[in-house]
Amino acid sequence: MVSIEFDNGVAWVTLNRPDKRNAMNPTLNARMLEVLDELEVDDRCQVLVLTGAGDSFSAGMDLKEYFRETEAKGHMATRRAQRDSYGWWRRLRWFEKPSIAMVNGWCFGGAFSPLFACDLAVAADEAQFGLSEINWGIIPGGNVTKVVADLMSQREAMYYILTGETFDGRKAAEMKLVNFSVPRAELRARVRAIADNLLEKNPHTLKAAKDAFKRVVEMPFDAAEDYLVVRQESLNFLDKSEGRKQGIKQFIDDKTYRPGLGAYKR
Ligand code: ACO
Repeated sequence: MVSIEFDNGVAWVTLNRPDKRNAMNPTLNARMLEVLDELEVDDRCQVLVLTGAGDSFSAGMDLKEYFRETEAKGHMATRRAQRDSYGWWRRLRWFEKPSIAMVNGWCFGGAFSPLFACDLAVAADEAQFGLSEINWGIIPGGNVTKVVADLMSQREAMYYILTGETFDGRKAAEMKLVNFSVPRAELRARVRAIADNLLEKNPHTLKAAKDAFKRVVEMPFDAAEDYLVVRQESLNFLDKSEGRKQGIKQFIDDKTYRPGLGAYKR
């Protein structure tokens, strides 16, 4: 269902149902909750990359197992299935370590939720995205409507919600749904390079910075200002390596690096 490969600080987490285009069924969703729990306390994972096996990132929710078979078991079965899927996406959104969605191929419907949950996203030019819900008679739930409202312009979001047309990785990058797109052959190397940049940074600061951004997006101006002060002060307490003091010392006293051009040495 899910495979994990550790490689020099990166955990490559692969949704692994290629025969079903990595559609998310209840078993995969439950497993992803466990995987995130495991990786959060595993030092081999300093950066998490989420991708899919074969030619698909994820074909969205499993129409047979997540919808038809679950609904047949009644209302509470549906709620339980939602708890696991929404649960792992939320867990990923607030994951202790930075995360990158590596969109290698098909990305439909519910797959926009883990895409949004990841801090960064890089797509293959050849990847195909689609809000296909309209094509089979539902609205984009699993908070996908909210995801596209937050990430895309109103005109573009509404266009794809109503038409269900597909668009490729280049278009996704142009709309800022992903950070950028590259030819599929270069995808893994580009994601690895971003991960290597993140690995140089102070991990406490990375977590505080991503949370701060995700929180302040939803806050009024003055509350955000106050939150950021308090969050920095909590970071000062949590970061026993006193990274910011090191950062100042290595620049001002030791003259071993320039903060404008790279990270201090941890
Ligand atoms: N749910 C359940 N099964 C799926 C799903 C899915 N979302 N996507 C693919 N599969 C299964 C197919 O039923 C098929 O199973 P089978 O081999 O037992 O017949 C297998 O995966 C391969 O699918 P094909 O359609 O043959 O693969 P192809 O490469 O030709 O097409 C594509 C890939 C375009 C992704 C197509 O499978 C598709 O349209 N899938 C549905 C995409 C979608 O609309 N997802 C729902 C979004 S809405 C939401 O998530 C709430």
